[in-house]
Amino acid sequence: FEVNWDAEAAEKGGYEHFMIKEIYEQPKAIRETMSGRLAKDDSSIIFDELKWTKDDLANINKIFIIACGTAYHAGIVGKYYLEQLARVPVEVDIASEFRYRSPLVDENTLTLVISQSGETSDTLAALKEAKRLGARTIAITNVVGSSIAREADQVIYTWAGPEIAVASTKAYTTQLVSVCMFAIYIAGMRGTLPVETIKTLIRGLRELPAQAHELLEDVEPIKTFAQQYGFAEDVFFIGRSLDYAVALEGALKLKEISYIHAEAYAAGELKHGTLALIVDGVPVIALATQHDVYEKTLSNIKEVKARDAVVIGIGLKGDKQLVKYVDHTIYIPATEKYLTPILTVIPLQLLAYYAAVTRGCDVDKPRNLAKSVTVE
Ligand code: G6P
Repeated sequence: FEVNWDAEAAEKGGYEHFMIKEIYEQPKAIRETMSGRLAKDDSSIIFDELKWTKDDLANINKIFIIACGTAYHAGIVGKYYLEQLARVPVEVDIASEFRYRSPLVDENTLTLVISQSGETSDTLAALKEAKRLGARTIAITNVVGSSIAREADQVIYTWAGPEIAVASTKAYTTQLVSVCMFAIYIAGMRGTLPVETIKTLIRGLRELPAQAHELLEDVEPIKTFAQQYGFAEDVFFIGRSLDYAVALEGALKLKEISYIHAEAYAAGELKHGTLALIVDGVPVIALATQHDVYEKTLSNIKEVKARDAVVIGIGLKGDKQLVKYVDHTIYIPATEKYLTPILTVIPLQLLAYYAAVTRGCDVDKPRNLAKSVTVE
């Protein structure tokens, strides 16, 4: 009798890979990241850990968000949140670019760095550079006591728990939740949002864990798409506004773990070049969850359909139109427009995961990539 005790299998808790385990941990990770931070009456965000006063932030006239990889994509969503909710101009930069372009940073700049590991060397160096130039700094990170957590003036932790798979999933959704709470917090301080709007957003945040759970309950259709299109050479992701930000992350996930060439395009920009690549049978994942640009997105979907692309449309539950213009649909639970990215990304993570499984790729440890990049 031989006991074959496999520590790694035990850690995976019955899942085949860490990535799928971490995808399924998202409802809990989101709930924990919000825990204790939403006021009971929904009227404000509580960040006991932040030691800034209203006066400290009164002169802030610009925010830089700096990160790499998936965290950078969270930063792109963060720009929408901070500009639209807190009305501060935001620049988002890739850490390895920011450092080398003499950024226009001074004591009235707030620099927000986002890093799951808290150890990415380019992000750490960018943070140090921003500090040297006099900026106030804050980090959103998942690792307590990490180098970035220690270097930043203030820290907001994502409570996602350890993320093992190289491709980031629950870190991304909790980064979005954190940056959204931070934007509401700053908006509260600056008085840029009516209390009713804050309440609506906070109620929306409270619903997210259950909605994420709902999305994870029926993954069969996504598995089927992945099996059907898993051997495509190129896949395009299109969307406008917040959907474009999520499209970037969807394309990165697919590239990282399935090695399929994937590109995300702002849907309205397609006609300036990339439309030339849309030919018969090319899969296009079209995100159409944003009301204010919905009709425009539909006309972009018609443009790719006219070139015989195979379109998988992602829309909000209750949308009756989308189905008429696409080949397949995936619906996400209806939520506040700002919160859609936190849900929309989940089917994209699953699509990448099942495509990688279909192709027999090493899901948790993709070739050439590392979980934490501590070289420049
Ligand atoms: C690596 C990982 C990515 C991650 C990026 C930034 O490239 O493979 O998944 O998004 O680093 O990492 P960080 O720990 O700073 O968020």
